[in-house]
Amino acid sequence: MTNQYSITLLPGDGIGPEIMDVTVKVLETVGKQCDIKFNFQTALIGGAAIDAKGVPLPPETVETCLKSDSVLLAAIGGYKWDNLPRELRPETGLLGIRAALGLFANLRPATILPQLIDASSLKKEVVEGVDIMVVRELTGGIYFGQPKGIFTSETGEQRGVNTMAYTVSEIDRIARVAFETAQKRQKRLCSVDKANVLDVSQLWRDRLIKMSEEYPDVELTHMYVDNAAMQLVRNPKQFDTIVTGNLFGDILSDAAAMLTGSIGMLPSASLGANRPGLFEPVHGSAPDIAGQDKANPLAQVLSAAMMLRYGLNEPEAATKIEEAVLKVLDLGYRTGDIMSEGAKAVGCQEMGKVLLEVLEGN
Ligand code: IPM
Ligand code: MG
Repeated sequence: MTNQYSITLLPGDGIGPEIMDVTVKVLETVGKQCDIKFNFQTALIGGAAIDAKGVPLPPETVETCLKSDSVLLAAIGGYKWDNLPRELRPETGLLGIRAALGLFANLRPATILPQLIDASSLKKEVVEGVDIMVVRELTGGIYFGQPKGIFTSETGEQRGVNTMAYTVSEIDRIARVAFETAQKRQKRLCSVDKANVLDVSQLWRDRLIKMSEEYPDVELTHMYVDNAAMQLVRNPKQFDTIVTGNLFGDILSDAAAMLTGSIGMLPSASLGANRPGLFEPVHGSAPDIAGQDKANPLAQVLSAAMMLRYGLNEPEAATKIEEAVLKVLDLGYRTGDIMSEGAKAVGCQEMGKVLLEVLEGN
């Protein structure tokens, strides 16, 4: 029987449309091989939506996403929209779709591929074998807490306010995802907080400890965020699964990504409860190389693999894509961002072409 899925594509800005093109072809090819039919529809987000509709997240985009089985996003943003007021900026569209889909769990893997070990700025012995999964809370914490805003006091002085807040249920649901993620990995979960200073972190830590009773097979440790930043660059191999709040996760996942030296290779998944998940590369829209056929499409392609694995429960198709990506690297094909001596330099489309050849040869 053919499994059918409705997928909303959000190509967004910059290199987004180019890498999305490659990814759609990969999905169609793997779909044929695994008896999966994808029905794609494309919607506007970010700068593209600002230009066409005047807002970064038009209501019809939210509607289309909510009606689909999964959402595949490329990237948003660019110089052109950098000076708009906050509510009209492309980033606001991204935060809006996360909130609208209730995507509270953000999974950001940082895996060192042996083929690309020289791309890391750290010593080979430090990064070899690194395989970290950052589970970042995505719809709470200081990004969304109330009160927020810039207020003027009676004396006329302005005061900027954001609030870091987590309720027990917000902590518990992300903790559950983290414990279950760790269970499928090396069963080591490190919770990162700032419990030596912040009350919200103390509650976070208490709840994690409480929930660990339900997961006796997972080893739970705790680390303060400043130390975690240091340990990530000092000895990243000590980490398996990391769980943390929205802001700490934003920062630490960038550091973890950079351990690999190839942010153009990293996918991510954002999951909610009973709503379509959203899958996107960790990198941005790279406006400086947009439209020049230079972009690395592999993080987008691997995001589609995460969609198959975590969003649609099609692990076989996911594995096919992941294996094809590794094979293409083994064959020596590299886009500019991961270029090394002796490798075969290709552009975005050419990378897509070899990927399809490898898939069809499998
Ligand atoms: C990310 C980005 C976003 C965030 C921005 C673009 C709003 O940095 O996905 O990590 O801070 O969450
Ligand atoms: Mg970020």
